[in-house]
Amino acid sequence: MIIVTTIDELLEVTSSLKGSIGFVPTMGALHEGHLSLIKKARSENDSVVVSIFVNPTQFLEGEDLDAYPRKEQADRKICELAGVDILFMPTVDMMYEKDELNIIAPAIRGFILEGTKRAGHFDGMLQIVMKLLNLIAYNKPSNFCAYFGKKDAQQLVLITQMVKNYFINVQIVPCDIVRDSDGLALSSRNVYLSTEERIKALSLSRSLKRATELVMQKEFNTQIIREEMKKVLSEVDIEYVALVNREFEQIDIVELGNTIILVAGRVGTTRLIDNLWI
Ligand code: PAF
Repeated sequence: MIIVTTIDELLEVTSSLKGSIGFVPTMGALHEGHLSLIKKARSENDSVVVSIFVNPTQFLEGEDLDAYPRKEQADRKICELAGVDILFMPTVDMMYEKDELNIIAPAIRGFILEGTKRAGHFDGMLQIVMKLLNLIAYNKPSNFCAYFGKKDAQQLVLITQMVKNYFINVQIVPCDIVRDSDGLALSSRNVYLSTEERIKALSLSRSLKRATELVMQKEFNTQIIREEMKKVLSEVDIEYVALVNREFEQIDIVELGNTIILVAGRVGTTRLIDNLWI
């Protein structure tokens, strides 16, 4: 595995790659969820590039940028063992100038749910993803796929839209959520949970299970499903429970094959999200 920290080095090493590239952008603190993206990229491409960059522009004032878990040594090992060819670990100065063009998330998909709860987050996220995609696409690989988890559903939908709107030559590959055996969706933030909080956090996935049961019983009214989910979430400080279509428009009736059920909330000080695509 080649580790590069500068843009020049990245462009040089990617210029000699032959065939398809699978790219997995991350903020580090890699877990099984990231590993599943890397494995998928590995199985579908000639070369795999992973980036680790804790992107400051997607953290809001008062969010956990400084405390965000950093596990550089362990991350390197995980990438090496997973067969990553190139690991890109740039610094903030390398990725950003002082005064930059900004990207603003679109009105509907960008300004509901995570967009309102974390105003500005998606602008920063899209900005860094655009930069990273352009860097990997720079040497015109014969085929270029970038892998993103469905856990950050709104992020995935927005990136797919950005790629379409800005004609970026990459195929976005959505990847399934990975869960611990108890059902908790994997997240770098799970390390913050105490044993007691972790038990409470399980109600997020339980609420989604309850929603599935209701849909299987042919209950398609989203208002009723939301209310039932909230009962399961009694020990979570709920931020939102939402049912949207794949365009991220709120819906009144579940459309099978086109619905995402989302939940976000705090357990103690830890903010957690989870979702289900049905
Ligand atoms: O999902 C993440 O880890 C980040 O939002 C991403 C896509 C790597 C951009 O910083």
